[in-house]
Order: sequence, then C-alpha cells, then structure tokens
Amino acid sequence: MTLPAELDLVIFGATGDLAMRKLLPALYHLHGDGLLATGTRVTGVARERLEPSAYRALAQQQCETHLGKDYQGQRWQDFAPQLHYCTLDARDAATYAPLARSLEQRDRLERVFYLSTAPSLFADICRNLHEAGLITARSRVVVEKPLGHDLESSRQINDQIGRYFHESQIYRIDHYLGKEPVQNLLALRFGNMLFEPLWRRECVRDVQITVAEHLGVEARGDFYDKTGALRDMVQSHLLQLLCIVAMEPPASISADVVRDEKLKILRALRPIRGQDVMAKTVRGQYRAGAIEGQPVPGYLEEEAVPPDSRTETFVAIKAEIDNWRWAGVPFFLRTGKRMQEKLAEIVINFREPPLAMFEAPYGSAANRMVIRMQPEETVEMYLLAKQPGDVVQLRPVCLNLDLAETFRTRRLEAYERLLMDVMRGNLTLFVRRDEQEAAWAWVEPIMEGWRAAPERPRLYTAGTWGPAASNTLLSSSGLSWHEEL
Ligand SMILES: NC(=O)c1ccc[n+]([C@@H]2O[C@H](COP(=O)([O-])OP(=O)(O)OC[C@H]3O[C@@H](n4cnc5c(N)ncnc54)[C@H](OP(=O)(O)O)[C@@H]3O)[C@@H](O)[C@H]2O)c1
Repeated sequence: MTLPAELDLVIFGATGDLAMRKLLPALYHLHGDGLLATGTRVTGVARERLEPSAYRALAQQQCETHLGKDYQGQRWQDFAPQLHYCTLDARDAATYAPLARSLEQRDRLERVFYLSTAPSLFADICRNLHEAGLITARSRVVVEKPLGHDLESSRQINDQIGRYFHESQIYRIDHYLGKEPVQNLLALRFGNMLFEPLWRRECVRDVQITVAEHLGVEARGDFYDKTGALRDMVQSHLLQLLCIVAMEPPASISADVVRDEKLKILRALRPIRGQDVMAKTVRGQYRAGAIEGQPVPGYLEEEAVPPDSRTETFVAIKAEIDNWRWAGVPFFLRTGKRMQEKLAEIVINFREPPLAMFEAPYGSAANRMVIRMQPEETVEMYLLAKQPGDVVQLRPVCLNLDLAETFRTRRLEAYERLLMDVMRGNLTLFVRRDEQEAAWAWVEPIMEGWRAAPERPRLYTAGTWGPAASNTLLSSSGLSWHEEL
C-alpha cells in the first residue's frame, strides 16, 4: 500500500462523537500499522477551551473506551505526539489565528480539513479558512452526510463549499463504500470472468439490499425526527450500494470513470411518484417491543420525539433500473431501526435453470450470492449440489469466501480506508456532487408522496423485520426477503 505523504490533517468537531468514536481510533490504527507518515500532524479543533495535553488525555480516554481490546497503551504513547489541538469557534473568523499560525509555521501545503460538525457550519468554516489564507491548491476538504435535507438544500451546501474548494478537492464520505466487502464486490465483479456474464437480467431474478439496525434513535431523537430513514439511509448508503451492484464495468478504477458509471445508474432509476409511491414503497415506525430479550420503547415514546410524529424509522422500496442490463429486475431496498437483527447485506438472487431435471425439495432461489457487511464481513455463494447417497437429490451448499481467514491480515475499518484515500488523494470511493444530487432527485418525489398521503407510517413491533407490508412488496411478485428463503 502506498504511504500517504506527510500532511496536516485538521479535524473540525474534534471533541464530538464521530471524531472520538471513529476518526481518532482509525488514525491510531493507521499509525500503529505504519500507515501514517511520521510527519503527519493531526490537529483537533472545537470551541471547548483545552490545552493540547488535556485534549490528548481526553482522546486517550475515549479511544481506550471505543477501541476496547485493540487499545494498547504503548501504541497510544507513540501516536499521541502527532495529535494537537486548537480552540476555535467555526463561525468566528477572529478565532482562526492560532490555527493559521500553527499551519503556517509548518508550511506543509498538503492539508486536509475534515468537517466533523453539523453541516450548518460548513459555509462558515470554508469561508473563514479561505479568508485566513489556509486553503492551498493541495488542500482537501472532507464532509460527512447528511449534506442537506433535500435537493435544494444539498445544492446550497455544495455551492457554499464549492466557492472555496474545487470539486476535485471535495471528499464526500459514504462510509459504506469504505467497507472491505463492498470493495471486494468490485474486485469479484471486475477482476474475474466468472460473474460478469451472469450479472444481468437474463440471469438475475432480483437484488435485495438490507441495512438493519438494532438501535433506536438513542439520544438523537431531535435530529432523527427531522430526518427519517429515507433521507438518513436510502438517499446515501443504500443508493450507493445499489450503484456498486448495478453499474457497468468501468474502463478503469480511476475516480471519475467509476463515478460516471454510478451516475448513469442513478439517472436510470425509474422515478417513483404519484400513485407509485404507495405501491412501491413501505414506510414504518417502530412501536414498543424487545431487542435481544430486553424491552425497548416505541419511537413515539423516545426522548425529543413529538408524540404525533409521522417520521419513518423503516423503509422498503421496490426500485427499478431502466437500462438494457437491468430492465425488469427489481432491486429491493430495506432499512430500519429496532429490527430483528443487526445486518447489512446485498443479496443477488439468480434465476432458476430453465429445465428442472432433478427432483427437488429446495428453495426457489437456487443460486444466491450474499455480500455481508455486518455483523461479519463475508461473501457467500449458494449453489445446489448432489447430496451423497444412492439417489440424486440436490441440496443447497454454501461456498464461503472468508477473506479474513484467507488473507489473515488485519482488515482496515471503513474510516481507516477512507482516511488513507483522502490522505493519498484518491477520490474513487467518495461521492461526486452530481451523484449526490441525482440521489436526492430520486428520493424527493417519494418524500412528497408520503407528505401528501393521509396514512401514517405502518407500525411494526421493535425486534421484528418491519411491517407486514414489506413482505407483501415482494410476495406480490412471488418473491420473499432473504431471511425467509
Ligand atoms: N456520530 C456519528 O457516528 C456520525 C455518523 C455519520 C455522520 N455524522 C455527522 O458528522 C457530524 C458530526 O457528528 P457528531 O456526532 O460528532 O456531532 P457532535 O457529537 O454533536 O459533535 C459536534 C462537534 O462540533 C463541535 N462544534 C460545534 N459547534 C462548533 C463551532 N461553532 N465551532 C467549532 N466547533 C464546533 C463540538 O465541540 P464544541 O461544542 O466544543 O465546539 C463537537 O466537537 C454531523 O454532521 C453528523 O451528522 C456523525
């Protein structure tokens, strides 16, 4: 792996949840694996008045908690000298002086500004960095979702960032793209001859993409109630995963070539509007139930959630792609909170052979490929094989590509991989503006359809797979979700 150059990485929102839970642990691991250049300096910034030593102590304590058994005191001591802190109010230009002095003293022109704050601060941060003269031609900016709550607001945020950073300097993170099995899907599809000839409507019956959580809204009821599952998950993660499955083979793995192909898929998604909204989507809201045997409250009882909220905590969608490869193949998308399992997976169900030569008590989807991102990272291929014995009877068997077992090296977590890519200047796994806007343009009519509908979201009991209507979405075409097969 090429080591990134030495640079200055500035994390805005460095005392927040994302920085402490994901970014600093990722940097600690990269450092421990020798993947962080020794001259790279990480500067945290936030409003809280802290000496750099106090920030290091806070970061150490948080990393120890979040890293668990992966935390090693000596490794932390080796990493800590690369960690610095500046107090700064993102909105107040006058408070940028200490950061400016510190960056200018080092005079490294390669700079990464990671905006781990609310998007409402992005415009001020970019403008103030510009006015302080801190944005060099070799600077990059990293932004987290959610970028806006609809097409118009995402355009505004992109315009604000785009005033100071060129598109080639903007890294929009979708951490699902950093997950090892997702990259493996690209490797399997385009590094082998085996799958590509089958990867089309003639051989694929349906595709299912599920991201299911055990968690409810935790302490984020206020944020979540304004967002909902469609904006929070479908617009970003699920559509990005759909693009990776469905895109045409790119001519190379370079950023814009891959992103051009993903964009074509987003533009080929058949719009869901008007009557179709209720026919092709299901929105749900969890009521009280149990997760792993423990009782949990319903969504409307959660802190900071209005008692009459219509926000969806579950979505299932039947999406269709109008192009030659995928016409007629449904792509079922499903995501929800308080689901029966914590699970993220892509399932490709292949068609049955045209001729049934063998007697069979076997499931309807004979061949199936399952790319699982959570809880474990695996790629499985289900085939039918003859059961040993004197009669020819077939049984599904699973070929499990256990990559952890095969390669036996520590696998990079999504944020480690993506931070490496930012530091190396590789945009392939980051979302381009036109992709993001095409995704918003596709989900907007669904949001409008729901707003106009008199029905409330369908209730489902916490700890289940969502409302029954989610099953009907598939059973009306003679199909069922993966866990039912
Ligand atoms: N947490 C996650 O797992 C996660 C996942 C995906 C995306 N995101 C997104 O990432 C962003 C950060 O999330 P988070 O959960 O880390 O939020 P958070 O816990 O609320 O942290 C916000 C951070 O921003 C700082 N901050 C707030 N106002 C500031 C200002 N005016 N100037 C400078 N710093 C300021 C806060 O410190 P001070 O108050 O001391 O200034 C704090 O360090 C959000 O946009 C979120 O939607 C988070």
